[in-house]
Amino acid sequence: MRFLHDALPDIAEEELDTRVTFCGTRVALPFFISCMTGGSEGGFRANRELAAAAQTLGIAVGLGSFRVLLENPALFKDFDVKPFAPDVPVLANLSAVQVRDTDIDALLTIVERLRAHALVVHLNPGQELFQPEGDRDFRGLLDAIARLCARCRLPVIVKETGFGILPRRARELRAAGAAYVDIAGAGGTNWISVESYRLPEEERADAEEFRDWGMPTAALLAAFRGGQERLLASGGIHTGMDAAKSLALGAELAGFALPVIRAVVGGGSAAVVELFRRMERTLRKVMILTGSRTIADLRRGTVWLEPGLQAIAQSIAEAEGSATPRPPAAKYAREK
Ligand SMILES: Cc1cc2nc3c(=O)[nH]c(=O)nc-3n(C[C@H](O)[C@H](O)[C@H](O)COP(=O)(O)O)c2cc1C
Repeated sequence: MRFLHDALPDIAEEELDTRVTFCGTRVALPFFISCMTGGSEGGFRANRELAAAAQTLGIAVGLGSFRVLLENPALFKDFDVKPFAPDVPVLANLSAVQVRDTDIDALLTIVERLRAHALVVHLNPGQELFQPEGDRDFRGLLDAIARLCARCRLPVIVKETGFGILPRRARELRAAGAAYVDIAGAGGTNWISVESYRLPEEERADAEEFRDWGMPTAALLAAFRGGQERLLASGGIHTGMDAAKSLALGAELAGFALPVIRAVVGGGSAAVVELFRRMERTLRKVMILTGSRTIADLRRGTVWLEPGLQAIAQSIAEAEGSATPRPPAAKYAREK
């Protein structure tokens, strides 16, 4: 894809407005720190640094899965980053399987104690299948998400973790009550490859066969184009240009995991701020060169798709359209 370069942008840089509303809060940039870590001393240090960077930047920050808190509430302090990010959205995180298998009140109590702005529910069947102790039963997750959305007064965001969410599934998730769908597509961190480091030699070859698994973020965004879904883009978005393109393809915000964890491990909060400032500089230049005063302007017809990407988007839509409808899944038996 390419941006439609505007040789006559009738804009002064000082007029640019990069702010957007996310989960009911105004954030300074259409970027967020994807959910990553927690539940250990190292995890807390990283979360604290990420939260401090998010506060400086005025952007939302995601926490890693709080699953461990369900078993060990004493670790709450490892997730308690609100004091470091008082003015920006903090996003709590749990897997859909945990949502299905946990008492919703217990789960919402933790979200409340964290003073989170939203609960992010992650879908990661690919990763689980390559964890020796991973989940193998993925039934009833959509129903569980619908039950959660009905009970949770905060926005619920549903994300993948690097293999993408198809448009059909995004529509179902939105109908179930999800405020946003974060497509978290392929192109960046591949959790099957990550898990393969922990596997015995003979099973590592199995993981190798999935090296290329998943729906690339750009292809999914192109396939979603023109749809009504409220999308967040992440997965392989590693530069300001990647982020600008994902916004131009219709995402409301762009999320980053891998580049951010690298920055925080390498240089703490200051390195994370520097990373985002660099991406902000690129975004602002793209806005001027496409005649976009606001992020809404950037999301309105500033790109053209190369024929290859156009064809991929088309074929995803056709493949989804021709998929044999499945019989409705039996309601999940374990009502919680
Ligand atoms: C170190 C690390 C830890 C992660 N932990 C979580 C997690 O606890 N919950 C979650 O939803 N996603 C988790 N993710 C997935 C990211 O949120 C993101 O969806 C994925 O890494 C793709 O983005 P990327 O290509 O920018 O890395 C993690 C990613 C990384 C790199």
